[in-house]
Amino acid sequence: MSWTYLNDIFIPKEEVRISPFDRGFLFGDGVYEVIPVYESKAFLLKDHISRLERSLLQTGINKPKAWNDIPQIIDKLIKKNLFLNQVVYLQVTRGEDVERSHIPDPSIAPTLFLSSSELSINPYRLNPDKPGLDVKIIEDPRWERCDVKAITLLSNIIALREASIEGKDDVIFCIKGKVTEGATSNVFAVFDNSVLTTPESNQILSGITRKHVLSLLGSKGIETLEKDLSIQNLYEADEVWMTSSTKEIQPVKKIDDKELPSKSPKDSLWFDLLSSYLI
Ligand code: PDD
Repeated sequence: MSWTYLNDIFIPKEEVRISPFDRGFLFGDGVYEVIPVYESKAFLLKDHISRLERSLLQTGINKPKAWNDIPQIIDKLIKKNLFLNQVVYLQVTRGEDVERSHIPDPSIAPTLFLSSSELSINPYRLNPDKPGLDVKIIEDPRWERCDVKAITLLSNIIALREASIEGKDDVIFCIKGKVTEGATSNVFAVFDNSVLTTPESNQILSGITRKHVLSLLGSKGIETLEKDLSIQNLYEADEVWMTSSTKEIQPVKKIDDKELPSKSPKDSLWFDLLSSYLI
């Protein structure tokens, strides 16, 4: 049996229910976090909680009543759901209104929902020789507040669905030739001895994995640059990676119809980083 948590109570997944008058359901009025768990311990939890706090501030959603207990709730959920490696989903919506209204009632209590499932191991950890991702570039269709980790993900879903129908593994968004990020990840590119990633702005989500990867690279003495990346830059890079809490680091092999240089994992920086990723 799989357990969830909804507003103070642990409930089996099959039994958990919310009202359709919850503003998350009516408007997508909510924010979320996806937190990986390795060997029963939430990874980089403090960073995820800080980003959640920022998302709540940015959207004016109140902190849930159980705010200070979130680390303990996550721990309990991990124990109840048994898997050694999990992915915890945490969502806060503005709460349940009495009627549908664009202007929220400031007094409603937020809805706090958590679930967890088994974390699928990064396939490039299990099989480093697996061909890299085949991705499609599309003009970024999203809003101007991609820095908010909002549950409103329709543009990302449409882009990924279309890419998947075309047989592509993933999507990289760009604005007028400049890369923003992946549909569920941040993008890195390696050139000679330096690694570039798109700078933080309202056009990307400031990924926890992005920050972790930048710090891993720093500790290895590798130069990192937070600089705009053009599509042309990606085509010419030695390596391109996509990073997220569930992907960790994954290499890209093909962008549109351009193949990136073929390198064995042992000669690739992404593979070296994966081996120290959890330290
Ligand atoms: N998504 N950019 C976007 C648009 C994302 O959705 C994500 C993560 C990231 C990477 O963020 P982080 O490193 O903190 O996971 C960047 C999660 C995994 C999701 O929506 O499932």
